[in-house]
Amino acid sequence: MSSKLLWYAARSNGLVAWVLLAAAVLWGLALSTKLLGRRPRPAWVLDMHRFLGAGALVFTAVHVVSILLDTYVHFGLVEVLVPLAGSWHPVAVAWGIAGLYLLVALEVTSLLRARIPARLWRSTHYLSFPLFALTSAHALSAGTDRHTALVRGAVFGVCALVAVLTAVRFAGSGRPGPANLAPAGSPRSV
Ligand code: HEM
Repeated sequence: MSSKLLWYAARSNGLVAWVLLAAAVLWGLALSTKLLGRRPRPAWVLDMHRFLGAGALVFTAVHVVSILLDTYVHFGLVEVLVPLAGSWHPVAVAWGIAGLYLLVALEVTSLLRARIPARLWRSTHYLSFPLFALTSAHALSAGTDRHTALVRGAVFGVCALVAVLTAVRFAGSGRPGPANLAPAGSPRSV
């Protein structure tokens, strides 16, 4: 595969991963702030949140594999798995690596939700806030497209929306947290 194609693949998959992650966070906040209505909600509403989160992980995997295969800048397994191990914009890339670990932790605990303590799932789910902040910082500092008005406008605009909904979420409930994401009828639903 030509190096240019891999570079385009790395950039486009990184952008799609960020968009899906942003959509997952916004959808989750819309659920927990009750913007999507109160219970009982149709099952697809929660499925959509899960689907967006899983999609973000899949596109991140393709993003990272494209970077590994691209030969323009040398990225080996160590450089993509250990923060600050590489020489190419080490801090900007480190935000993405930290984001990858948080994304994996969120996905694994969500898949194991029925088998792990509710507290563990909930506290891990709070990591979605630092995850979103880290990947937004990564997109704005590592990406070739970071200087374009579209990318900057989209990242700053969505960050502002997430901040507003987070404030609404925490102000509107004495019991903050994504517990409200539990499916209707589930013993863990709030
Ligand atoms: C091991 C983890 C990661 C590594 C090593 C990594 C590495 C990189 C590199 C080297 C670039 C610059 C590509 C270029 O423009 O030439 C980049 C850009 C980008 N990455 Fe990552 N990344 C990682 C994780 C993530 C995650 C978890 C997300 C989002 C969910 C993400 C989203 C993006 C975005 C949106 C860009 C900007 C693309 C552009 O503007 O062209 N990355 N990443």
